[in-house]
Amino acid sequence: MQLRDFDADMFLRDVWQKKPLLIRNPWTVWSNPLDPDELAGLACEEDVEARLITQSRTAWKVEDGPFPETRFGRLNKKPWTLLVQAVDIHVPDVAALIEPFRFIPNWRIDDVMVSYATDGGGVGPHFDQYDVFLIQGLGKRRWQVGAACDFASELQPHDDLRLLAKFEAINEWILEPGDILYVPPRVAHNGIALGDDCMTYSIGFRAPSRGELIAHWCDHLLEEIQDDDRYADAHLQAQDNPGEISATAIAGLHEMITEKMLDRKAFARWFGQYNSMRKYPETDCQIDEPLQVEDVRACLDRHIPLCRNPASRFSFIRQGAHAVLLFVDGECFECNPDIAPFAEQLCVQGRFMVDADLGKLDSGIALITKLLNQGSLAFEEEEE
Ligand code: SIN
Ligand code: CO
Repeated sequence: MQLRDFDADMFLRDVWQKKPLLIRNPWTVWSNPLDPDELAGLACEEDVEARLITQSRTAWKVEDGPFPETRFGRLNKKPWTLLVQAVDIHVPDVAALIEPFRFIPNWRIDDVMVSYATDGGGVGPHFDQYDVFLIQGLGKRRWQVGAACDFASELQPHDDLRLLAKFEAINEWILEPGDILYVPPRVAHNGIALGDDCMTYSIGFRAPSRGELIAHWCDHLLEEIQDDDRYADAHLQAQDNPGEISATAIAGLHEMITEKMLDRKAFARWFGQYNSMRKYPETDCQIDEPLQVEDVRACLDRHIPLCRNPASRFSFIRQGAHAVLLFVDGECFECNPDIAPFAEQLCVQGRFMVDADLGKLDSGIALITKLLNQGSLAFEEEEE
């Protein structure tokens, strides 16, 4: 799916992370990919992250899902909104909304959140730490955007919501089905449903914080460091003042840290694995009975297409000119030049036929078998 009259290069140069942009219905034909009832159904499921925000004149109330099916029938006339995270994992037509935005790398994409609101409903004026494309799916919403915020921006006192204490709209638009509003990180925004049955699809991105990177990279380093990896000073010279920590000692100590911290090769491998972890890793995707290489070969011989698990995250890092490290769901696979093109293809397409030549390679079949057994790939089910 491509967007009409949308120039990705120009968007990245002039808009991305710089300013909000309204894109009036650029779809060839827009059709809302999910019914409100189906969204409500998802919000009742155990492994789905959902929130319900109800508004009264004075207070905002947040409830976490999963919700009992009766919950939505019991809501009164006051505005409310239901937010469901990572709907792309559950609904292929919602996952398809990400496709026009694939000019942004897989590793930066987080999920598609879907909201449903009644007249006047919304989540209030706020800012997010990530970029978002807000696609109006059904009904109308007034979107207002304000100034850029930061950690010092004053918030309303609330335990669960980070609502801005002061919000002044600089620009506003009424979005109708198919319209898209891009909002950069930290730009204040406020969306209010105009009428009932307002659905918005948020294509959300990831941007690791420096703190998160340092903390997790250090955790990883610590897993590998042995207790006997210690400061040593076989070169120690007699000191005039025993109180001095010499420049040589500081240099040696500092080196112990930087040597590990600055290992870019190890960092790349770790980051690829870390970032490719599934959004909900606790949801078990492994298949019950592991497939053997022979089973996989038989399916490939029957030309059965392979599909990526929509919950799986695929990315790669080049190793020299022809090899790659493939990262899938927190695992790293070293791919030699013979299977590297396949690894790259895996990162582009959600569904594909395996090339006959690759199907003959032991390393190719072995990789596919591992990915099938960890639940990142599946053979497409044959129609009866
Ligand atoms: C919404 O869909 O109501 C909220 C989306 C957002 O502001 O990020
Ligand atoms: Co937002």
